[in-house]
Amino acid sequence: MIIKKKRIVITGGTSGIGYEMTKQLSPHNEVIVIAKSTDKLHTLGQEFENIVGYQADLSNLKEVETVTDTIIKRFETIDILINNAAVQYTPTFLDNNFVYENISREVTLNFTSVCSLSYLFLPALLHNHKAIILNINSGLALTPKTSSAIYCASKGAVNIFSQSLRYQLKKTNISVQQAFLELVATAMTVGRGKNKMSAQKAASKIIHGIEHDITDHDIGKVKILRLLLRFLPAIAKNIMKKY
Ligand SMILES: NC(=O)c1ccc[n+]([C@@H]2O[C@H](COP(=O)([O-])OP(=O)(O)OC[C@H]3O[C@@H](n4cnc5c(N)ncnc54)[C@H](OP(=O)(O)O)[C@@H]3O)[C@@H](O)[C@H]2O)c1
Repeated sequence: MIIKKKRIVITGGTSGIGYEMTKQLSPHNEVIVIAKSTDKLHTLGQEFENIVGYQADLSNLKEVETVTDTIIKRFETIDILINNAAVQYTPTFLDNNFVYENISREVTLNFTSVCSLSYLFLPALLHNHKAIILNINSGLALTPKTSSAIYCASKGAVNIFSQSLRYQLKKTNISVQQAFLELVATAMTVGRGKNKMSAQKAASKIIHGIEHDITDHDIGKVKILRLLLRFLPAIAKNIMKKY
């Protein structure tokens, strides 16, 4: 399926990988972006055609409900929902700068909002042609690193949720896909890691996966990680622990 003339909702389309997906999809599709920063949404609307922006803090479930309701009232049907927005807080539980309140913010944005948006947009996704829910995931969903325990756990939860939802929606027009990314150069990873994939390349690989119906799409080094976890799990876990 070439992605053309589709109505696509993407969360966190104002920055990083989401921004690049918005940039690549907007010339031939109608893209509805949900993000937190009004200023960035405004700039995005000026930069690209075919964009409609909605401001919402997706770590607040009331705002998730309100924004979904507003979008569904305006647009009856949606072809693709891309759950992309996420945060990653890196302090460990022993660090002085660990913020207790961030536990629930991170879980709500990275996991609960993914479930809620999938449920609340369901009436708009259920129609008589193909629709997709795509959850942007990470190699850290497969095995964790030491820092960012909540991030790793939330991505692991998204992985299990996506597989179960896929079973539930098997007889409908909606397919549930995931893209598992390696380290990508974005605001989320500033100051961490080397030889990172560019956000532009990550976005084009994700879009290629949608077009080719790849259910669980391992991107870049995640392909190697999945093989290592199968055949040499202790080595794989040890590498990721220090990531
Ligand atoms: N970068 C990596 O190495 C990497 C690796 C594996 C997986 N991933 C996954 O890829 C996805 C995109 O990550 P990224 O690196 O592109 O991140 P990013 O550059 O930090 O962008 C995050 C996006 O999420 C939005 N967002 C953050 N908090 C929000 C909130 N409370 N409510 C609504 N929107 C919010 C931001 O919008 P505002 O700017 O308006 O706040 C921004 O558009 C995430 O799911 C991430 O877990 C990334």
